[in-house]
Amino acid sequence: MGRIHPRIVATAGLALLVSACGAVVEPAGPGARSISDLWWLMFWLGLIPIAIVVAFIVAIALRRHKEESRPNDQRIVVYGGVVLSSLLLIPVIVMTAVTQLDLGMSGDDRLTVELTGHQFWWDIVYIDGDERVRTANELHLPTDMPIDLHLTSIDVIHSVWIPEIHGKMDLIPGQTNTLEIQVDDPGIYQGRCAEFCGLSHALMQLTVIAHPPDEFESWLEAEAAPADIDVETGQLQTYANSCGPCHTIRGVFDDPIFEGDFGPDLTHLASRRQIGANILPNTREALGRWIIDPQGVKPGNRMPDVNLDAGALTDILDLLSQLDGHGEAEGND
Ligand code: CUA
Repeated sequence: MGRIHPRIVATAGLALLVSACGAVVEPAGPGARSISDLWWLMFWLGLIPIAIVVAFIVAIALRRHKEESRPNDQRIVVYGGVVLSSLLLIPVIVMTAVTQLDLGMSGDDRLTVELTGHQFWWDIVYIDGDERVRTANELHLPTDMPIDLHLTSIDVIHSVWIPEIHGKMDLIPGQTNTLEIQVDDPGIYQGRCAEFCGLSHALMQLTVIAHPPDEFESWLEAEAAPADIDVETGQLQTYANSCGPCHTIRGVFDDPIFEGDFGPDLTHLASRRQIGANILPNTREALGRWIIDPQGVKPGNRMPDVNLDAGALTDILDLLSQLDGHGEAEGND
């Protein structure tokens, strides 16, 4: 019986370690900071009952070891089960309510971004006055400005979660949820879909790139510009027949039939860091693999295999490689 003691200590220690791992995220915005503060309050208050329970277990084991009788004291139930629980839970309930109320971002100078979930990628539209600037999968944001993310979905329920910036919120077909966020510092933050949405749910990633406000304005201006490409008519026709019905390259086609919005906007595709909702690097080789075998790379996604021969694939890759509207400024760091 004496061997039980180290095991108890090891188990309690492991439980504490696992709990602490949940708090490794460094908050990078006021929303995440409020949630993190609440998490730490719950962590430290939670340690109190853990310590008491561990102390009781150790005490009982020691008494058993000495073969003494155990006390039968109902006061433990009253004080431990009711009074102590109330004392611990009331501050948590109050702080949870305070945190909920505190999560809105105040400020008149705001940016509105529509984020729409698709199986398995993110459609992103910036509302800039009367202008709508569409892109996909890389969410560029200004720092130090409240941002209203208008969330909806085209197919099933998704959920956006950028742990360093805010908690998660669902993207639901037929309704719009608003998530107010703000980012403190320039940098790259990883987001993802946090609601099981199909075969490739785990491959639905979102990269958030935060810029200083001036830099963001320049980025948005470049993103709003139409594509500037120089290709032969035959190449354009190959692209239009294979990719055009689902994707858009703004400013290239006169006929809207070649400006589909079922797949991600490709206008400045070459300026993005990654492809396939950020699961492959944006290289010619990876893009070729994605186009030839989309279901192999990302099972269950809506992009069909369009049966391109080698010549047609080369035409399309040549065309897509020109969609680098941000020049040298974007895409590397
Ligand atoms: Cu979208 Cu999970």
